[in-house]
Amino acid sequence: MLLRSLPRHRNFPYGWQNRKMSKQRVITNLKGLFTPDPNMAWATQSIEDAALAIQDNRIAWMGPRHDLPSGWKDAEVIDGQGRWATPGFVDPHTHLLFGGDRSQEFNRRLHGVTYAELAAAGGGIRETVRATRLASVEELIQIGEERLRKLSRKGVVHLEAKTGYGLSLESESRLLEAYAELKQRGWSLDVTLMPAHDLPPEFAGDPDGFIRVVAEEWQPELVRRFPGVAKFCDVFVEKGVFTAEHGRQILESGRALGLTPRIHADEFCHTGGAELAAELGAASADHLMFCSETGMKTMAAAGVTPTLLPATTLFLGMRDFAPARRMIEAGCKVALASDFNPGSCACLDPLQILRLGCLQLRMTFEEAFTAMTLHAARSLGHADLGHLHPGARAKVALWDVKHPLELVYWMGEAYLPTILE
Ligand code: NIG
Ligand code: FE
Repeated sequence: MLLRSLPRHRNFPYGWQNRKMSKQRVITNLKGLFTPDPNMAWATQSIEDAALAIQDNRIAWMGPRHDLPSGWKDAEVIDGQGRWATPGFVDPHTHLLFGGDRSQEFNRRLHGVTYAELAAAGGGIRETVRATRLASVEELIQIGEERLRKLSRKGVVHLEAKTGYGLSLESESRLLEAYAELKQRGWSLDVTLMPAHDLPPEFAGDPDGFIRVVAEEWQPELVRRFPGVAKFCDVFVEKGVFTAEHGRQILESGRALGLTPRIHADEFCHTGGAELAAELGAASADHLMFCSETGMKTMAAAGVTPTLLPATTLFLGMRDFAPARRMIEAGCKVALASDFNPGSCACLDPLQILRLGCLQLRMTFEEAFTAMTLHAARSLGHADLGHLHPGARAKVALWDVKHPLELVYWMGEAYLPTILE
């Protein structure tokens, strides 16, 4: 038997899952294993003194070490060094690529100027659009890799990433080119087309005209230029930005191109975005601080994943966290995400999201963990991510903790898992 010890603080880049390893591996000497149960909406399993068997980079068996079937006796053994194994985190909502930052604007908010006032004065998203348009594709790739490395170190093994800071055909195209290259380099991500993130200066006063151009010209052209790169489409439905009717036009046009709709909805007030997501069969409706009871029920019935972004509520200094408990009671399979972006959530830390899920959304630890793994992965169409049951891709996080609960309990602690792929 070959014994391979994992270096303590080594993380492998996402790309490692792509190498061909037609072999059997067993992770043993685990203090425990904690995973959502993919057969249930909200069940987790916690097994002490566990083992995990991996065949060709997929989980083949998991359970108490003493029950490991004898067929695995010749497998390569990986020493879990007394850690807890969990599935790596999946982040189903990020605005990964943008130029510049908005720290000055952030300070102006601390001095009392509101997010809406900054946007109305030409700042906000449009400030980042100016910086992003100045960035070359190479710079965007470099920025993207730095951010992906940080997320990877903190346990994120897959994420969704949007365009939307270009707001012109050519700059949205450059963002897609950068995402295509990041995927090519092996980073595990799903790309979302979001040219209708805000009204660009070129279309000032003409949201109807802009939406028509995005729906009829830009989206088809971007899909034509980068076939297979984007998987989803998204739109910012919000008072003062785009209406639910605009949202419908964008998402229906995207769907006709083979993209699956997601939507920014009900962030600052109720706009009917959740109801629209249900009607269109969107994969997710995101934000939802002001979601209606009808919105929750229709999302549950339509299988839309409400994707809640508590770090955004915090970063915006708002008090109204999304009604996660009522959504769960309505039958929704809630996901949690970072919403990483320069204006409303400059956060690249999955544990921050997990902690806010528990402490502000009032989710249990088990629910919040499930929302950041199983439900996050499912909302992106990956039934084989976000859990450690047989068939799952072996993207395992090994945590140096007495129990995974510590990840929330020791609030400021920066746990860095070892990722095994
Ligand atoms: O998801 N709501 C729209 N978009 C981002 C904010 C973008 C920004 O402020 O730059 C969000 O919160
Ligand atoms: Fe967002």
